[in-house]
Order: sequence, then C-alpha cells, then structure tokens
Amino acid sequence: MVTKNRTKFYVTTPIYYVNDVPHIGHAYTTIIADALARFHRLCGHEVFFLTGTDEHGQKIERAASERGLKPKELADQVVLRFKDLWLALNISYDFFIRTTEPFHEKGVQKIFQKLKDKGDIYKGIYKGWYCISDENFLAEDVPLEPSGEKICPDCGKKAILVSEECYYFRLSAYQQKLLDFYAANPDFVRPPGRMNEVVSFVRQGLKDLSITRTTVKWGIPVPDDPQHTIYVWFDALHNYVTGIGYGWNNELFERFWPADLHLIGKDILRFHAIFWPAFLMAAELPLPRTVFGHGWWLKDETKMSKSKGNVLDPHIILDAFGPDPLRYFLLREIPLGQDGNFSHEGFLHRVNSDLANDLGNLVQRTLTMIWNYFQGKIEGAEPENQSDLALKEAFSQLKEKVKILFEDYAINRALEEIWAFINQLNKYLADNEPWKLASIKEKRGRLARILLECARGLWGIAYLIYPVMPASAEKIWEMLGEKRPISSLKFHEINPDLFSADNQMQKPEALFPRVSLQDFLGREIKKEVRMEQKGEMISFDEFKRMDLRVAEVIKAERVPGTDKLLRLEVNIGDETRTMVAGVAETYSPEDLIGKKIVVIVNLKPAIIRGIESQAMLLAAEVGGRAIIPFFDRDVPAGAKVK
Ligand code: ME8
Ligand code: MG
Repeated sequence: MVTKNRTKFYVTTPIYYVNDVPHIGHAYTTIIADALARFHRLCGHEVFFLTGTDEHGQKIERAASERGLKPKELADQVVLRFKDLWLALNISYDFFIRTTEPFHEKGVQKIFQKLKDKGDIYKGIYKGWYCISDENFLAEDVPLEPSGEKICPDCGKKAILVSEECYYFRLSAYQQKLLDFYAANPDFVRPPGRMNEVVSFVRQGLKDLSITRTTVKWGIPVPDDPQHTIYVWFDALHNYVTGIGYGWNNELFERFWPADLHLIGKDILRFHAIFWPAFLMAAELPLPRTVFGHGWWLKDETKMSKSKGNVLDPHIILDAFGPDPLRYFLLREIPLGQDGNFSHEGFLHRVNSDLANDLGNLVQRTLTMIWNYFQGKIEGAEPENQSDLALKEAFSQLKEKVKILFEDYAINRALEEIWAFINQLNKYLADNEPWKLASIKEKRGRLARILLECARGLWGIAYLIYPVMPASAEKIWEMLGEKRPISSLKFHEINPDLFSADNQMQKPEALFPRVSLQDFLGREIKKEVRMEQKGEMISFDEFKRMDLRVAEVIKAERVPGTDKLLRLEVNIGDETRTMVAGVAETYSPEDLIGKKIVVIVNLKPAIIRGIESQAMLLAAEVGGRAIIPFFDRDVPAGAKVK
C-alpha cells in the first residue's frame, strides 16, 4: 500500500523522445499521471506534476538529419505537437521540461562532475554494440547473428558497433546496495511482478555503464572534456530532479524531492529501476518512492510504436469525442500494469454503454424531469425514507473505497465502483418511477425528494469522476446549478448534503455524443487518405535535395547467402562507391558490368548484410522484381539526373 498521511505528491511521466509525434501510448501514461495529480489536488495535497521531452542523443540526431533539420529544429516542432495534445486532453501538468534547456544541462553537468570527483565515474574504452532506437548498450551475451551483426533483444532492430573512448559509471559498485534497497522497499517497483524481474536482473550481476559518447555530437558536453557528450539516458533521467529545482531552486527541490511516483511503460523499467536509483545513490540524493511500470497498448496484438508504424492518432478520437471518452476508456479498460488491445469497436462499445447509456442517460433523465416538473428548482421535498438514506450511505462508502483505490493506483477499480453506484442510482429511479407521480398532486413532495436525491447523487458522482473526466464533471455541476468549481472542495468534505436544494438547475444538454462505428471509422479512413495525399506531395526544394547521378557499374557479385542481393561497385564520376542492390532475381552480375544506371548518392549509408551500402539505384518494381532503367544513348558517369 501507498504511504499514508502524505502532504505532497510529486508525479512524473517519462520525458518523450522528439523523433516523432505523440500517439495513444504517450497519451496513456500522461493521462494516468493527470488523473492521479487531480485526485491528490482534491485531497488537498501539494502536487507537482512533471512531464516533458527527451531531446538529445543519436536517435534524435538521426531523425533530424533524415528530415534535413537540425536536431533542435526538429525538437521545437515536435514539442508543439506534444503540448497541443496535452492541451486537447486537459492535462494539468505543472511544468514541461525540455532537456535542451540550459538549467537542465547545467544540473546534469553538476551531477556528472560530482560523481567524477568522488570516483564513481572514470575513463575507459567502450567496445560493443549499441541500439539507437532504444538508446541502449547491448549486453555482451547478446549473440552475434550469422551476418556478424547483433540485433537488439528489446526492439528487434539492428545494433551498431561502437568502439570509442568513454567515461564509465561504476554501476557494479551499486549491485548489493540496490538489492538491499529493493528488499527494504518492496513497493519501489510496481506491480510486484516487475519488482521480481528487476531483482533477478540485478542478481545476475551489473557491469559498469558507459555514460558518454564521442561519436554523438548532439548531447550535453562532459564538463572540461567537451569531446565527449553525456549518454542520453544519464541526461534524461536527471530531468526528474532538474525539473523540480535541482541546481536552480533549492527550496522547490527540497519541498518535492523525492518523487512519489515515476510512471513509465514497462519498456523502460530497467533504466528507472536500476540505473536511476544507482545514479541517485552515487549523487547521495534520496530515492523515489515508487516506479510504476504500466503495460502496453497494443494494436493488432503488437505494441503500438512509432517505429512499427502502427500508432493511433489521438486527434481523430479527440475531434469526434473530446477528451473525456478517451481518458475514460484508457483508464477504465485495463488495470495499470497489464497490456490492452486498442480497437475502435472496443472503444465505441465502452463509450456508448458506460458513458452515453449509464451516465449520460441518468443525467439526461434526471435533469429533464427536474426541468419539466419543477422548472429547474426543486421545492417542497418531503423527508427522506429508508431507500433515500440507503443511497446516501452507499455514497459515503463509495467515497472511501474510491479514495483507497486511487491512492493505490487502481484507477480502473475506482471507476468500476463509481459505475456500480451509477447503476444503483439508475435502479433507484426505475424502482421509484417518479414519472408516475408527476400527475398526482399529493405525491409532489415525494416526487421532489426522489429527484433531489438523484441530483445529489449525480453531484457526488461528478466529483468522483473529476480526476478522470474533468470536463464532463464540471459540465454536470454546471447543469446542476452548482457555482463552486469542483477543485474548490476537498475530498474529505464531500458529502451530497453539500448540494443545495435551492439550486436553479438547467435544461440538460447531451454529455456524450453517440458516434456510430461507421462514422468513426470513416474519420479514420479519411484521415489516412489525407495523410497519404499529403505524403505524395513534396515541394520542388525537397526534390532538389536528392542528389541523383549516372553511375557506371564496374564490379558486380552476388552477396553470399542471399538470392536477392548484388554487391556493386559503381563509378559516379570522381569516386567509386560500394552498394548493395536487391536486383539479383532479375539480373546476374555479368548483365550489369559496364552498364550505366541512376543512383541516389546523398542517401544515408545503410549496412546491409554487413556491407556498407553507399548509394541506392533506381528501379521499377514489377511483380516483386526490380527492373532497372537504362539510357538510350551514352552518358558520362557522374552526370546529374534531375
Ligand atoms: O523511452 N503503450 O521515450 P519514448 C503504452 N525518452 N505506453 C506507451 C506505448 C504503448 N504502446 N508507447 C509509448 C523514452 N508509451 C525515453 C524516456 S524518461 C527519463 C526517458 C509510453 O518517447 C510509455 O510511458 O519512447 C513508454 O515508457 C514511453 O511512452 C516511451 O516514450
Ligand atoms: Mg520508445
């Protein structure tokens, strides 16, 4: 269980990479953090909610160069997309940190220097494999592929071989200290299964960690040795302290550090549960209370990720539904920690049944009757009977349950409990049949009482769903004639009697739109078509950036062990390039020697089957085979093609 009697709550999300735009996966973590931050604010705790972007490192360096941008230019663009999405989702972060900000860079350098001074950082040479997509050094025991390369065991991408001078962090010295810490703080990693994973990993032994690079320019320079840049994970993890004042606002830092909760996806558990506490131990800073590794949203049973290209764009859902249905769905559908499969059908089903039917209809029916029978202001309610009091008692129990569940990060369970109460209220309405009383004069007092109890129940429900669906909650309060903002009442004070019977209530408007699957999918398809059309259009300037040349094939041979690949050496005028081309099913090496072809020469080299391919030829693809265009007269090698 979670620390009781807290007065503050410091919650963080990962800082997201800016190599591409945000998707539902990023929205998920941030929505969880937002719901928890809002809940703790309601409890009267002092809350700090930090999110932001991870902007350095080889992955961003590469993504920017592929787009012909400077890394900072790419970051500036993508940061806007993140901030737009957080605005559209009603995310109430207190601070958005960017790792390119000077205060962060200075803070990281300060800690680096401190660790170096005390001997936890030392110079050496790193020789090994590195996964750019995960920004991760591969363990030595990852086996070599037959091609002589290594594949990242986490993301399945090819790793690159790195061999360079670097600084090491003495991670091995912290192995036992980490194990002792885990044993003393079993809640440090949650859910418990993930803790076991971490412990067994550390027990297998920790090697010192390379924490600088000389071949990556886009990073924070090492103090007094600027040839080296600081490893992006050492840089990024420290956002959790620099974002809260480390190195620039000591009072803020002292007030909020250590973090109460680092929310992350399980993909980055080791960085947070092993490296991060070790760095903090070395820096002699207190350790965070909990790292919660939640599960993944899958699409078609595989993890949604930018690199797989199977991401869902949250804006399509937001355009159709506004923020609350998505917030509700993501938090209600799966317990924190488990994976979930995102489907349009599943989303619509939940939204239509829980939101439009259960809650939306209840609001609609109650307020319509209050409007029709009382013009919005209930008068002359007779005293409560047993069933009215039972409802009140149910609410007060509900409130306690919801509090405990939220404190324990069991948001889906809290929502389940709230929905059980919503259905109890629906049943109360059905059992009491107020519409039958409306025409009976002597029953007017009872009619008033029933509708008042329903209004009160809704008032309480709106308060409890506020952390998850703030906009809908406020709207319900507004329709109920409540003038106070929800956040002005503390959780422990909440009780339906605070709802005044004198409120002038409004005629209801629909809370949740009903959208059919057809309409919803239609939007998705239209968006895809728009994107494809957009994708087809490039400007002349973009086209001009491609350097296409006539190349003469001087040498050609099969790449051993493949049916499709030829290794070519081509003359492009003033130099010879090696390239690998997938044309062996159409051409034998002899067919090509002496021929002139068109190649693009300023495409980033790629390693194919261990060969660096320094150019790419143009060919038509017909029935899966490559057909190369040749010239109808002689042209000199190196001539520009435009
Ligand atoms: O890892 N399901 O950034 P990142 C659920 N910069 N959550 C998902 C998800 C999915 N399919 N896809 C992404 C990085 N996430 C580093 C972090 S922190 C010091 C540095 C969420 O842009 C989830 O929280 O790859 C995951 O951990 C995070 O996005 C990864 O974001
Ligand atoms: Mg990632």
